Amino acid sequence: MNEIQPVKPLLEALDGRVQPIPPVWLMRQAGRYLPEYRALRRRAGGFLELCFKPELAAEATLQPVRRFGFDASILFSDILVIPHALGQRVEFDTGEGPRLEPLTDTASIEHLRAQVDHDALEPVYETIRLVKQMLPPAVALIGFCGAPWTVATYMVAGRGMEGQVPARRLALEDAATFGKLIDRLVTGSVEYLVRQFRAGVDAVQIFDTWAGVLGPREFERWCIAPVQRICRDVRARCPGARIIGFPRGIGTALSRYVEQVPVHAVSLDWTIDRGFARSQIPQAMTIQGNLDPVVLLAGGSALDQEVDDILHGFADRPFIFNLGHGILPDTPVGHVERMLRRIRGAGPA
Ligand code: CP3
Repeated sequence: MNEIQPVKPLLEALDGRVQPIPPVWLMRQAGRYLPEYRALRRRAGGFLELCFKPELAAEATLQPVRRFGFDASILFSDILVIPHALGQRVEFDTGEGPRLEPLTDTASIEHLRAQVDHDALEPVYETIRLVKQMLPPAVALIGFCGAPWTVATYMVAGRGMEGQVPARRLALEDAATFGKLIDRLVTGSVEYLVRQFRAGVDAVQIFDTWAGVLGPREFERWCIAPVQRICRDVRARCPGARIIGFPRGIGTALSRYVEQVPVHAVSLDWTIDRGFARSQIPQAMTIQGNLDPVVLLAGGSALDQEVDDILHGFADRPFIFNLGHGILPDTPVGHVERMLRRIRGAGPA
């Protein structure tokens, strides 16, 4: 077949080509700040029900693209579908954040399924196929998974908490058992991402939300090494697979991440100094980020100024505009529109 592929600015940027106006999408762009999402969520009942009903999940994926014309859609799902598919109980109570049955000891970890049940994740792959049929041709579809470390922190503690102490403690007290859990997550995530690519995603993002709580040695062992393995094993089966890494909160350890983890792009949180980031990230690696979600929440001239600074700071680099973490639920829709006008109207300085 000699089909002409439409140009997707996001993929151009991921492949290292500087775009006159940077492509833009937002982490958590489908979510509670959108009235149409809240209506859909009520219709679905529970959050996992929404993730596992392909027609509804596809609709949630498309809503922000329809409203704002973003350059990418991100698959509507959650990183915690993997623990669910390993047989752990996962619940999302409205406003409470996720609750899992905590893994307190070796026995509870051994008790999980040896492998991710990919039949249980079939609705996710079906969502991808549905979205692909409906997405405007210039819009990329991004799949994702959580990094093994971040997923493990929720599995061990049963929830997110300051410093993610329970997982760090287990990793120190019983590294062998913790390592088995990480290995299972690596293997499951590789298969999960490969199946997402085969269903049609253009790129994937690996979310390491809790990368920043580890000391240097543990960072190397539990963040860098597992994500390296995922990149290598996914690309062995899907050559050239485009991967974005999001190691949140790692500060100066960014240097080691970009040196050792072969991602196409690194997504920066808002705390990182842009000059430092520029000096550490190889020219060939695309930068994504790094607007503070609170700046988007505040809006006004603070927002304009920060958008300008980001555009200016990364103007000569392959760059994707995004937040430094997920959009906050109270963010006015008008602030997102203002941000987009600023990015697309002014372009890079
Ligand atoms: O729009 C998108 O970004 C796509 C869908 C998506 C969700 N979660 C939907 C969601 C993605 C990519 C995620 C990733 C995710 N989930 C991460 C990594 C990124 C990050 O934000 O740090 C993490 C740590 C999770 C786990 C998780 N899921 C938490 C901690 C919470 C509660 C906090 C919150 O924001 O509500 C969720 C719930 C969740 N995941 C919601 C959405 C839209 C809100 C659920 C609701 O509708 O009540």
